[in-house]
Amino acid sequence: MSKKPTYYITTPIYYSSGSFHLGHCYTTVICDAIARFRRMDGYDVFYLTGTDEHGQKVQQKAEAAGVSPQQYVDGLYDQITRLWKALNISYDKFIRTTDDYHERTVQKIYEKLLAQGDIYKSTYEGWYCTPCESFWTESQLHDGKCPDCGREVKLQKEESYFFRLSNYADRLIAFYESHPDFISPKSRMNEMINNFIKPGLKDLCISRTTFDWGVKLPFDPKHVAYVWVDALANYITALGYLQEDHALFDKYWPADLHLVGKEIVRFHTIVWPALLMALDLPMPKQVYGHGWLLFGNDKMSKSKGNVVDPFVLTARYGADVIRYFLLREIPFGSDGTYTNEALLTRTNADLVNDLGNLVSRTTAMVTQYFGGQVPQLGEYTDLDRELISLCTETLPRVRADMEQLSAPDALADIFRIVQRANKYIDETMPWALNKNGDTVRLGTVLYVLTECIRFAATLLTPFIPDTAARIFDKLGMPLPHDFGGLADFGGTPSGTAVHKGDNLFNRIDVDRELQELDKLAEQQAAETPAQPQQDAITIEDFSRIQLRTAEVIACEKVAKSDKLLLLKLRVGDEVRQVVSGIASCYTPEYLVGKTVVLVSNLKPARIRGVESNGMILCASDGKQIVFVTPEKDIPSGTTVR
Ligand code: MSP
Repeated sequence: MSKKPTYYITTPIYYSSGSFHLGHCYTTVICDAIARFRRMDGYDVFYLTGTDEHGQKVQQKAEAAGVSPQQYVDGLYDQITRLWKALNISYDKFIRTTDDYHERTVQKIYEKLLAQGDIYKSTYEGWYCTPCESFWTESQLHDGKCPDCGREVKLQKEESYFFRLSNYADRLIAFYESHPDFISPKSRMNEMINNFIKPGLKDLCISRTTFDWGVKLPFDPKHVAYVWVDALANYITALGYLQEDHALFDKYWPADLHLVGKEIVRFHTIVWPALLMALDLPMPKQVYGHGWLLFGNDKMSKSKGNVVDPFVLTARYGADVIRYFLLREIPFGSDGTYTNEALLTRTNADLVNDLGNLVSRTTAMVTQYFGGQVPQLGEYTDLDRELISLCTETLPRVRADMEQLSAPDALADIFRIVQRANKYIDETMPWALNKNGDTVRLGTVLYVLTECIRFAATLLTPFIPDTAARIFDKLGMPLPHDFGGLADFGGTPSGTAVHKGDNLFNRIDVDRELQELDKLAEQQAAETPAQPQQDAITIEDFSRIQLRTAEVIACEKVAKSDKLLLLKLRVGDEVRQVVSGIASCYTPEYLVGKTVVLVSNLKPARIRGVESNGMILCASDGKQIVFVTPEKDIPSGTTVR
C-alpha cells in the first residue's frame, strides 16, 4: 500500500479579550472543513490549533480581572476548548504557549539566533500597540493611531534585543517571486511588498522588559520574548522541533497551509519566513489571508441586536447550522457580513428546504411504497443518466474547489445534486407512478434518489459532519471515512433498511425567531459586565503616582490671571508652592487652613512664569471646580492611595 501524502494545516493560536464571538470561529471552522476533506481524500492530515497566552495584553487583562495571568489563560483555554467541542472541530493537537515544551523550545530558538548573530541588543524607541502587540514607526501610524486596529499607541523606550529582519528583505522578495502562491490571495502579496518590504524593513524588536508574562530569555532573564515570535514558533514547537521526539516535525514540516485572518498576514509572510530562513528551515507552502466576518461595519461584535455568541448560537441551532453558514455565506478571501436574518434565511433555504426536504421526501416514499427497503434498480432513463453524471462529476469539482480552499464553491457544487434531485422528484412524480402501479420505474426513481442522497451526504461530511452522520443513519449505512464509495453510482445495496425518523432541520419562522434573538441579545447586553477600558492602567502604573495630603498655609492670586491661585502647602515637613486654576471658584482666604490632596511627584513646571511643584486634585463638571479633601482630619503629608 502506498504511503499517504501528508497535509499539515494550522489556525492562528487564539487570544481572547474577554469572550469569543462568531468571527473567532471563522478561521477554525474553515480549517476544520479543509482538514476533514483532506482526510477523506486520502491525506495523512495534522491539524494544529491552540492558544496564544503570553504578552502585555494578557497580563493587563488578568490584572483588570483580579486574577493571576495563569488563572486568566486557564480560563481562556477552558472556554475555547469548549467552543471547539461545540463546533465539532477535529484538531489533532492543541498547543498552549504556556506549555513547558513550547517555552523551552522558544528559549532554544533565541539562543540559536543569538549564537549565529541574528540577534543583537540595543534600545527600542517607537510606538507600540498593546491590543495588537505590534511595533510601529512614526511614519506607519495613521493619524497617530495603530494602522491595524485604529487604537491608541504608546511611545515606548526600552532596552531590547533585535532580530536582523532587515537582512532578509531581498531573500523574502526572491522567495515570493519564485513561489507565487505562497501569499494568497495575490493582492495580499502586493500589499506586503509595497507597504512593508519596499519602504525598508527595519530590524524587529523581539524582547520586552516592561512586563514579565512571557518566555524569559535564557541569556538575559529580565527580558521576555516578544509575543509574536513566541506565538509564531508554535507551528514548529508543536511538532517537536529542537526536542528529543521530533518525529512529527520530520513528518509534517513544512506546513501546507497557515490559514489566518487578513490582519495578521504581515506576521506570517514577513516575520515568520525570515525567522525560518534564519533557522535554516523549509518554508511553509502557503499562507492564506482570509477576509473578516463583519458585524455592521466592524470586525468585532459591537453591533447591537445580533447574537454573535457562538455558545448561544450552537446551543440553539446545533453546530452544523453555524458551520454551514460560515462556510457557505462568506465568499472566501473577502469580507462578509453577519446578520441574524442572513443566518436564518440561509438555514431555511438550503438546510431545511433543499437538503431536509430531499431526505425526508425520499425516505418517506421508500417507507410508504417499499416498506422502508431500498428498492431494486430497473433500466435507467436519460433523465436518470443526467442526474447520475452530475453525481459522479461532483467529487472532482469539489476537489478543485477545495484546492482553492473555497468551501462556498464546494458547497454550492454539492447542493447542485440536492437541488437537481428535488427537481427530479417533481419531474418523475413517484406518487403518480405508484398510483399507476408502475413499480419497476418507481423503484428505479427511488433508488436513484437514495443514491443522490448518499453522494451528497458523503461529500457534505467534511462540512456538516453531524448532519451527514444523521443522513447515513436514516439510509441505514455506515458513515464513510473516505470518498471511495463515490467511484460508482449504484453502490447502495437494494434491500437496505431506510428509516425516515425526525426531520433533519425544522423550518424556522424567521420573524418570530428574529424577535427571540433580539430579546436574547438585549439580555446578554444587560448581563455582560462593563468591559475594562481599553487604556486601563495597571496597579503598577497607578502606584507610580504619589498622592499626599497637604495643608494650605498661604494663598494668593497669580498676577494678571483670573484663573490661577498660588498656594503654599505644608506636606509633612516640607513646604511646596503649587499653582492651581481654581480662582473662579475659591478665594485665597477660604482656602487657607484647608487640607487638599497633592500629586507630589509631578514634574515641576512654570505656569505664567511662576514655579509650580505638584498639582492639587479637584473634581470638575465643567461649571464648578471643587477640591478633594480627606473626610476626617489627618496629618499633612499622609499618603493617599
Ligand atoms: N494570537 C494571534 C495569532 C497568533 S498566530 C501565531 C491572533 N489571535 S486572535 O484571537 O486575535 O485571532 C485568531 C483568528 O481569528 C485570526 O485568524 C483572526 O483573523 C480571526 N478573527 C477574529 N475576528 C474575526 C472576524 N470578525 N472575522 C473573521 N476572522 C476573525 O491574531
